[in-house]
Amino acid sequence: MRMVDVIDVKRNGGELTEEQIRFFVDGYTAGDIPDYQASALLMAIWFNGMAAEETRLLTQAMLESGDRLDLSDIPGVKVDKHSTGGVGDKVSIPLAPLVASLGIPVPMISGRGLGHTGGTLDKLEAIPGYTVELDEGRFKEQLREVGCVIAGATGDIAPADRRIYALRDVTDTVDSIPLIAGSIMSKKIASGTDALVMDVKTGAGAFMREEEDAVALARALVDIAHGSGMEAVAVISDMNQPLGRKIGNALEIEESVELLRGEGPADLLELVLAIGSQMVVMAGVADTPEEARPLLEAKIADGSALERFRAMVEAQGGDGSVVDDFTVMPQAAYQFDVPAPRSGVVASMAADELGIASMMLGGGRATKDDELDYAVGLVLDKKVGDPVEEGESLLTIHSNREDVANVVDLVLDNIRIADAAEPVELVHRMVL
Ligand code: URA
Repeated sequence: MRMVDVIDVKRNGGELTEEQIRFFVDGYTAGDIPDYQASALLMAIWFNGMAAEETRLLTQAMLESGDRLDLSDIPGVKVDKHSTGGVGDKVSIPLAPLVASLGIPVPMISGRGLGHTGGTLDKLEAIPGYTVELDEGRFKEQLREVGCVIAGATGDIAPADRRIYALRDVTDTVDSIPLIAGSIMSKKIASGTDALVMDVKTGAGAFMREEEDAVALARALVDIAHGSGMEAVAVISDMNQPLGRKIGNALEIEESVELLRGEGPADLLELVLAIGSQMVVMAGVADTPEEARPLLEAKIADGSALERFRAMVEAQGGDGSVVDDFTVMPQAAYQFDVPAPRSGVVASMAADELGIASMMLGGGRATKDDELDYAVGLVLDKKVGDPVEEGESLLTIHSNREDVANVVDLVLDNIRIADAAEPVELVHRMVL
């Protein structure tokens, strides 16, 4: 088979066969297909899409490119959560220990930042000593003993995704429904979880900006999960403005701890409880999300979810005193308030551009080899719907350099103040 013929089929809008999909996935993973031909195929997929059966075959080939984690000897229904990526989206960090504090095992395999979106692993690495690289033995031991793990893919899970994901990031082919579905589900099926809640973001800061695309992605994810015998649901949630008030690696750990102390921002808490209650139902610990919610709230109120977070951090080699003292994490040298240019109501805060602002400060990677500055980021003093007086602070920039004029310009260009604002609907709908 020749790669050029595979590209030709997809370029002309045809459907790839199982043999052609495997030829590409196996050949590219092995290094036999050059980047330029793989890029051409990815772009043809981006333009022409894939049928449901092709997406299933792509997921299967990526899954079979590596190992699978066997968690069957760990008692209980294992439940994981995955987000398609957003700005200020630190939900996984408080969610895993919160759900685990109800005795539900949460084996969470997470990722790094992609484009303007932050990555759970990058955020956790702001905690001194925290390691995201666990081998299978240590991953399973921690799951058994602590009840939750948040780590990177162990061993050789979906190596095809690692290679294809890196190429997509630099060829502008990330936001494709079959490519995202194959990427997420190959890793999730390989990670051995029994059930999965997907948080599919929609809006300015999401890869799927339009709600109908987010719903189509959710449908593809849920159908692939069901086809592989995994229980799954998807929540379609808003990513027009950042989630919570803090954007940046150490800052998002702070906000996660604040949530577990019962002091988190309302929107973040709402989404954590919405997703968490689905996980609790899937684990069979409650019959309905309405029944699950107070169980989770009680674990925040009595401090046990926070203690579970400390235990997880310490089990992964991190400094557990971070739950009492944020200054064990890197702190920015400068803080600058950005004053509102007029009075009114905050009508929009473009999540993607605020994510880019955090990246410009050093909180995200512009190229894959960039070093992160864990201390920097943004703290939103106002959110959509909040009234503001001229001169009052809209947000605070945490920076390690004194000149932040370009960041100030970018954020002011992307925060709109008007006479009134449309109400924000955080959870748009569920896909079952
Ligand atoms: N998250 C993933 O794991 N893969 C994608 O392609 C996008 C978000």
